[in-house]
Amino acid sequence: MALGRARLLLLLVCVAVTWAARPDLLNICMDAKHHKTKPGPEDGLHEQCSPWEMNACCSVNTSQEAHNDISYLYKFNWEHCGKMKPACKRHFIQDTCLYECSPNLGPWIQEVNQKWRRERILNVPLCKEDCQNWWEDCRTSYTCKSNWHEGWNWSSGYNRCPANAACHPFDFYFPTPAALCSQIWSNSYKQSNYSRGSGRCIQMWFDPEQGNPNEVVARYYAQIMSGAGLSEAWPLQFGLALTLLWLLS
Ligand SMILES: *[C@@H]1O[C@H](CO)[C@@H](O)[C@H](O)[C@H]1NC(C)=O
Ligand SMILES: *[C@@H]1O[C@H](CO)[C@@H](O)[C@H](O)[C@H]1NC(C)=O
Ligand SMILES: *[C@@H]1O[C@H](CO)[C@@H](O)[C@H](O)[C@H]1NC(C)=O
Repeated sequence: MALGRARLLLLLVCVAVTWAARPDLLNICMDAKHHKTKPGPEDGLHEQCSPWEMNACCSVNTSQEAHNDISYLYKFNWEHCGKMKPACKRHFIQDTCLYECSPNLGPWIQEVNQKWRRERILNVPLCKEDCQNWWEDCRTSYTCKSNWHEGWNWSSGYNRCPANAACHPFDFYFPTPAALCSQIWSNSYKQSNYSRGSGRCIQMWFDPEQGNPNEVVARYYAQIMSGAGLSEAWPLQFGLALTLLWLLS
């Protein structure tokens, strides 16, 4: 009788621990170079970052810098192959706003051992149209690389094309919208098969009048991941329960 109760208790504890572990994926900021430690309201976020004013991981300063080429944030030079068309550049500004400001990327945060950040995002499912429009608007601008995280010449303090990399239109290095979204920041994003408004993909662009559509998306994927966590953790819990039962008996 006592053993039965102990077993039940252990099982309940294990299940509770597993399920409780997941809300930590929601409404958080990644531990990176410029992010706030916790999300919160930010009055006066700059232009394209303003949709996140109600709840943001970026400061006003970061939101301003997100609009500048070779900004104080990363000294990143979007115009490494000559002028980038404004229609194209606005997608890079929006990409920076999403990365710096969104409190809804928790399900895709991974630990990394990099000098400039402790966490990154991996495979965030961007809505299909957001990748397509980014690609369409940038097709006629120029770049010299398909991975913008690595391989630059930083000797002048900002990134320039390395010696062996020639400038070509974007679609030379990124043949499809999916290639652009996944390759440019080493799989931080991937192109989702879902469409804007589906509640199943992250929108880089949204109208804050209707709230932030990425909240329900994060909740949906956090739930899926907690399901996966439960089944993966099951052998471990079972072993733990058996050991404890053996100790108790
Ligand atoms: C943001 O803060 C940095 C560091 O304090 C400063 O160098 C930069 O000028 C600020 N940017 C704006 C737009 O105020
Ligand atoms: C980087 O650029 C500088 C200046 O053009 C050049 O002297 C140097 O060799 C380049 N470094 C690499 C690794 O390409
Ligand atoms: C999206 O659809 C394509 C074609 O139907 C399929 O090959 C691919 O695996 C799908 N991707 C995802 C992430 O579901």
